[in-house]
Amino acid sequence: MTTAGLEGLIAGRTAIATVGKAGAGLTYRGYRIEDLAEHSTFEEVAYLLIYNQLPNEEQLTAYKKRLTEMQEPPSELKTVLEQLPATAHPMDVLRTGCSVLGSLESDGEGGRTQAAIADRLIASFGSMLLYWYRFKNRGERIETNTGEDTIAGHFLRLLTDAEPEPLKKRALDVSLILYAEHEFNASTFAARVVTSTLADIYSAVAAAIGALRGPLHGGANEAAMELVSQFDSPAVAEKGILQMLAAKRLIMGFGHRVYKNGDPRSAIVKSWAQRMAEESGNTDLYDIFERVEQVMMREKGMHTNLDFFAATAYHLCGIPTQMFTPVFVISRTSGWAAHVIEQRSDNRLIRPLAEYTGPEPRDYVQLSER
Ligand code: COA
Repeated sequence: MTTAGLEGLIAGRTAIATVGKAGAGLTYRGYRIEDLAEHSTFEEVAYLLIYNQLPNEEQLTAYKKRLTEMQEPPSELKTVLEQLPATAHPMDVLRTGCSVLGSLESDGEGGRTQAAIADRLIASFGSMLLYWYRFKNRGERIETNTGEDTIAGHFLRLLTDAEPEPLKKRALDVSLILYAEHEFNASTFAARVVTSTLADIYSAVAAAIGALRGPLHGGANEAAMELVSQFDSPAVAEKGILQMLAAKRLIMGFGHRVYKNGDPRSAIVKSWAQRMAEESGNTDLYDIFERVEQVMMREKGMHTNLDFFAATAYHLCGIPTQMFTPVFVISRTSGWAAHVIEQRSDNRLIRPLAEYTGPEPRDYVQLSER
């Protein structure tokens, strides 16, 4: 029997997360997402995913220091980033950055562990992206060692070259917690397939970045922003969405393969988007997003997924639209790494079968007779 898109199929075992499990909802190593988003920080969550437990105060301080020391990409990598065109998609920049780092700081060499590589990628992905961005857009060769001891603060400082605003920093931090892990989604599964061949972690993360890029997966946050940007008022948005639905078009940021009654991360990120909009004194954009949400519920009974209001929140943080999915990469690298480590610890090559639908065996026809 085949299942289109492997829907509903249990394709392996994991102790990392539950997604929509009865009585549990979304949990990371048993901790509920609602508690993590309210009380923890992204660095705590990354540590939890990669090192299997919540850090104590001493461990967290040491971990944040380690991440801070890993912010600077090697000079050879910066040289490569300078060669990429200004028109490259930021996801291409991160995929390339991951590959180049993999050839400079190889997996397994010099006692380097997958966990240490994951930390290095999480700490330096923002640096790679913004080094390239500022070089291409402003001709600057920036110092990427900001000394900021949070991933959110580091990203915002490199983006704006200013002290990150506390509200934006915490909103971004919470979104990173929400994006960190989600069981056997497409990019994580891609990372596990690559790992199952005993390939290195950089190859697994590069493959995962490729999978995340598509608009049916992580690219939906960027696509949702592009969609909503076409509308200049809630009324125009309502009309536009009704027309799209009549034309049977997909509305990005809605629907989910697993959550059919709503994504628990969505309300959390929405509340941060609302708070930022209200505190900025301008809710125009937020109101358009909210109207789209209402129309989709009324017309299709469909809920937003995390990507929809993450787009609002990121826009209000001042992040360029094309960097929305790369921010997702920075966060999800923690979840991918947890899965790479788990897959390696109990590996079996992932190699399913296919139901053949091609022609029956037939005789080869000589080239001169075709
Ligand atoms: N907008 C409009 N209609 C949608 C929709 C959306 N975002 N998502 C699903 N539907 C419709 C489908 O067209 C289908 O309608 P039909 O039964 O009339 O053919 C029905 O809902 C079921 O959808 P299906 O494609 O079977 O769901 P899926 O589990 O394969 O897809 C997604 C899940 C996420 C790929 C899908 O909802 C989607 O494409 N969403 C938009 C992209 C997105 O936001 N991705 C981020 C996911 S976190």
